[in-house]
Amino acid sequence: MESKTYRKLVATQLSHSFRSAIAITELPIPTPAPHEIVIRNHYAGINAGFDTLQCQGKVPYTYLTPPFDLGVEAVGEVVKIRQDVHTLQIGDAVATTIRGGGYREYQAISENLALPICAATPEILTLMPTGVSALVALEKVGEMTSGEVVLVTAAAGGVGHIAVQLAKLSGNHVIGVCGSDAKVALLRNLGCDRIINYRTETLDTVLQQEYSNGIDLVFDCVGKHVFDTCVDHLAVRGRLIIVGFISEYTNDLECVTQPRIYQKLFWKSASVRGFLMPHFSEYAVEGRHHLLDLFYSGRLKVAVDSTVFHGIESIPDAVEHLLSGKNCGKVVVKF
Ligand SMILES: NC(=O)c1ccc[n+]([C@@H]2O[C@H](COP(=O)([O-])OP(=O)(O)OC[C@H]3O[C@@H](n4cnc5c(N)ncnc54)[C@H](OP(=O)(O)O)[C@@H]3O)[C@@H](O)[C@H]2O)c1
Repeated sequence: MESKTYRKLVATQLSHSFRSAIAITELPIPTPAPHEIVIRNHYAGINAGFDTLQCQGKVPYTYLTPPFDLGVEAVGEVVKIRQDVHTLQIGDAVATTIRGGGYREYQAISENLALPICAATPEILTLMPTGVSALVALEKVGEMTSGEVVLVTAAAGGVGHIAVQLAKLSGNHVIGVCGSDAKVALLRNLGCDRIINYRTETLDTVLQQEYSNGIDLVFDCVGKHVFDTCVDHLAVRGRLIIVGFISEYTNDLECVTQPRIYQKLFWKSASVRGFLMPHFSEYAVEGRHHLLDLFYSGRLKVAVDSTVFHGIESIPDAVEHLLSGKNCGKVVVKF
């Protein structure tokens, strides 16, 4: 018999750990309001960094007070529509990127927030908003051109493996930094020119020995000493994009005492630039279409992590899996 209820994950309190901040709640499957559709989510993307910081109350642009819904991107199937909905039909596959719309089995949303896709497969979750973030960060913040040296950290991760390919597609020499042999193999397959496994080589030494002119563009997801090393190796007019600092999300921020960063940047006309996708939302639609086009035409390979997470109750495990650094590609949960 068809279920009349569905489950979603809710942050019920702020907490240092994601697992202790959340609870599963059960609700009636929604009925669509005017111009709304109801989607049964098939897969959702895991954004463990954002999830963790949000549950710690450390995302300044949301500052949500519990209880609040979690998860962002999902792919699924339209299961209910109102008669006033004209752009979609029952059975259509759609992708959504709505804060609070990911970690739930069903969602009721306005028809214009659902993007039709060929099939509700997990691969789509590597593209939006993850891949779009990589694209916008590189092009709009990093002013990526061609013929430069681009370095990507956490290069085999969800955001990183798309950034690597976009930098290659633009005609750059791309260095990918990662932490396992499996990730090295993935990056080789994606066309990385130099792969640095930081467990077997020292980033600073490789950059010193092989890139004496410095790095033109850094896409840093990791932070801490990786960030410091990348700043030290910026080229003249080099740009470093702060995409994240995942090495500090589960710890207290490390306090450092050293001369102010202008001492390092000024003499090279280099810069460090913060990036948060919500500040660049005007590029989201164009970015989605561009990435879908690259993907469907076979010019962009996507990697979904092979560890399978099933159901709402598996989401804390998926979050911890990503934060452990074991994932290769985008972590997803299947409903
Ligand atoms: N600014 C934005 O709008 C935006 C949007 C999306 C994501 N992000 C950021 O992008 C980064 C990557 O996110 P993602 O969801 O795609 O994750 P991910 O890259 O799939 O997974 C995280 C990876 O970070 C690496 N890592 C290095 N040091 C780590 C440490 N100390 N602890 C945990 N992981 C470490 C690990 O790979 P290796 O060991 O191979 O390095 C790990 O696999 C995060 O910082 C996230 O916050 C930012």
